[in-house]
Amino acid sequence: MLNRRSFIGGGSALLAVAGCKTAANTANQEVMQGFDETAVGKLSNTVWTPFSDKKVRVGIAGEGVCSFGSAFAYQTHPNVEVVSVTDLDPARCKLLQERTKAKKTYPSCEELIKNAAADKLEALYIATDAPSHAPLAIMALEHGLHVASAVPAIFGKDQLDLVPKIIDAAKKSGKIYMMNETTAFRPECVAMRSLFEGGALGKHVYTEGEYFHYWGNDGIQSYKGWRNGLPPQYYPTHSNGFYTCTTHGSFTEVSCIGIVSDLPDFKGAKNPHNNPFASEVALFKTSDGGAARMAVMWDAPGYHGETGRINGTKGSYGTYSSVYTGMEKELAKTVEKAKNPLPPGVDAGAHGGSHAYLTDDFIRGILISGHKVCCDIKTSLDTTISGVYAHMSALKGGENLKIPQI
Ligand SMILES: NC(=O)c1ccc[n+]([C@@H]2O[C@H](COP(=O)([O-])OP(=O)(O)OC[C@H]3O[C@@H](n4cnc5c(N)ncnc54)[C@H](O)[C@@H]3O)[C@@H](O)[C@H]2O)c1
Repeated sequence: MLNRRSFIGGGSALLAVAGCKTAANTANQEVMQGFDETAVGKLSNTVWTPFSDKKVRVGIAGEGVCSFGSAFAYQTHPNVEVVSVTDLDPARCKLLQERTKAKKTYPSCEELIKNAAADKLEALYIATDAPSHAPLAIMALEHGLHVASAVPAIFGKDQLDLVPKIIDAAKKSGKIYMMNETTAFRPECVAMRSLFEGGALGKHVYTEGEYFHYWGNDGIQSYKGWRNGLPPQYYPTHSNGFYTCTTHGSFTEVSCIGIVSDLPDFKGAKNPHNNPFASEVALFKTSDGGAARMAVMWDAPGYHGETGRINGTKGSYGTYSSVYTGMEKELAKTVEKAKNPLPPGVDAGAHGGSHAYLTDDFIRGILISGHKVCCDIKTSLDTTISGVYAHMSALKGGENLKIPQI
């Protein structure tokens, strides 16, 4: 586990990435949850067809404890040139440059964005700490950049006022804003989406999603402690994504149960969020008249991961599911067709083999007229905001709350 007490600050900050299976790690280090899932998303019988001879000029911000800046295959995608990179920590910035072969570095993402025009930058991938995503995304859109942001799109109740600003900045610039929701390109979610969009599942009735990530007694490292006492439903995208990235519907109402925790990060709510809950289970009404149950748990050891399943009026499909409308033989073909193959030499990456598919989706969105990215601005915000309201409901003992619609 990538915990805070395992971080011995002396020496290089890069030594602190114990537990994240990234290029920085040695063979002896543990693999952080999600980073062990690299092979499952690969397509077998498909051939990549070049779709453009252009290269998008991209900047990348953030090479934190998860090394997410370099983990999304920008440096190997044939339609990308990584022009500039940044991390506030000079050692991490240097590492990100080495890994991506970027020509330039900047001391902060803000500086990188200010120099975007001079660098002829077209797009920014934001892999910084969660609270910085929304302000940096707004600034980048205002500077005319397409934006792909790590999850979540906004961070908690205090950032709800940034939602109209993100929407406004995207509208005015006409640029893409997308969130890198890894669930969206997990094989089971790709299958769910493909079957749903093809009509095989009928009308949506009910979806379940779960994100289990045991925090342990030591918590998990993060820049300026943004993960300390983190309300589970402030990080709702890996469970909610099984509904929003399948149907592209939204959540309209929520009632959420928060479970009081004895883990040190949460005990007595003595944390930056005054949050006593390490697990939260939300029951949502969905925009199509159905329901969803979405669980995020930091204090349930044992089983871990991101899982989900959908039930429709004609059939059902998802993690652990083998029952749907008798189309088993068609499933493999359906999934293969639903994903664009990756270019040769581009590894799918971790979290269900989703990383490079998200990057490829973003690049296709920029270069191919009419290509709609999966986790677009509406789905990104729907997926995130609903969790903020779920946590608010949990603090009010499960009171039913209406969720603003995008
Ligand atoms: N499955 C998933 O989708 C998944 C998994 C892991 C992490 N994440 C997300 O990836 C992001 C990064 O995670 P992490 O654990 O590496 O974060 P972290 O907190 O360890 O590191 C954040 C990094 O961003 C840098 N940074 C902050 N503000 C900056 C700025 N203005 N300019 C330049 N650099 C800046 C910091 O110096 C730090 O190195 C997070 O948002 C997290 O939510 C997503």
